[in-house]
Amino acid sequence: MSPFLLTRTLPEDATEAALRADVLRGLTRTPKTLPPKWFYDAHGSELFEKITELPEYYPTRAEREILIHRAVDIAAATGSRTLVELGSGSSDKTRHLLDAMPSLHTYVPVDVSDSALRQAGEALIAERPGLDVHALIADFTGGLALPDTPGPRLVAFLGGTIGNLPPAERAVFLAGVRALLSPGDALLLGTDLVKDESVLVAAYDDMAGVTAEFNKNVLSVINRELGADFDADAFTHVALWDARQEWIEMRLRSVRAQAVKVPALDLAVDFAAGEELRTEISAKFRRDGIGGELASAGLELAHWWTDRGGRFALSLSVVRG
Ligand code: SAH
Ligand code: AVI
Repeated sequence: MSPFLLTRTLPEDATEAALRADVLRGLTRTPKTLPPKWFYDAHGSELFEKITELPEYYPTRAEREILIHRAVDIAAATGSRTLVELGSGSSDKTRHLLDAMPSLHTYVPVDVSDSALRQAGEALIAERPGLDVHALIADFTGGLALPDTPGPRLVAFLGGTIGNLPPAERAVFLAGVRALLSPGDALLLGTDLVKDESVLVAAYDDMAGVTAEFNKNVLSVINRELGADFDADAFTHVALWDARQEWIEMRLRSVRAQAVKVPALDLAVDFAAGEELRTEISAKFRRDGIGGELASAGLELAHWWTDRGGRFALSLSVVRG
């Protein structure tokens, strides 16, 4: 069987320190916010996979449709020997790319979710003898160092996860990705597109309540890791479209006035009745906007592919020699 390496780029306690810092900062400011990366413990990663199968949540199906039709074009345009995938999760859709890349030597999935990386990596090496899989437990927003693998490299950032970063962080992130690329390397970026509000809101407020459970999972993570006493039933899931910013916001609304203790931070946090904690933004894009953001990071949008319904786009930027 081909090798499977799993490398943690940060010590275990760095993750806990980052969670403490984010919770302290996010719950003591107004309005209260938390970064979405803390959704993804093992349970949160499972819930996300369930979301991808919901009838209302179209982005995964739309992006898969593009990959099925365009993977061969992507492989031909890049000729990559290493595929790096940021926020790889289950690596499920990635299989369409892997199948189409005849010269691929190494796959480098990068994720904060240890459980998702292990499951995906172990399945992949069993399915694809001959492919090296070097998984990295790492934060893609925090100065990523990639292993020394054969070029050219294709960095894929799928699922629309770039939309979970606010605009200023996106600019820093894209500049960081550009800095990882050498001539001949490429970036494949998945972006969900602006569309009718009712379609967008339904995708983040499904009838079965899976997204609500996913949203509340961040409270369980804080309870478990920091000894907090959040009562998930005392918060309701909110998904709304901000038409000015062109993003969906997920929030947790406190159903009553309450105080939550976070012993690991020696902190008590007061919530007023109806007060909302923002847990995620999910920005939606237009071609010109994403082209401009790529250009600001020194990347040129060379190809733009959408699904037949025009709901989601993949863009490819190849670094010139
Ligand atoms: N790419 C997959 C999964 C998307 S879910 C798809 O398209 O279906 C978002 C993934 O990004 C999760 O697996 C989550 O654990 C990971 N993630 C979120 N924030 C991250 C961060 N800051 N650094 C690394 N991984 C992150
Ligand atoms: C991972 N990310 C692109 C998802 C999204 O659509 O913003 C996370 C998600 N949040 C709620 N549902 C799915």
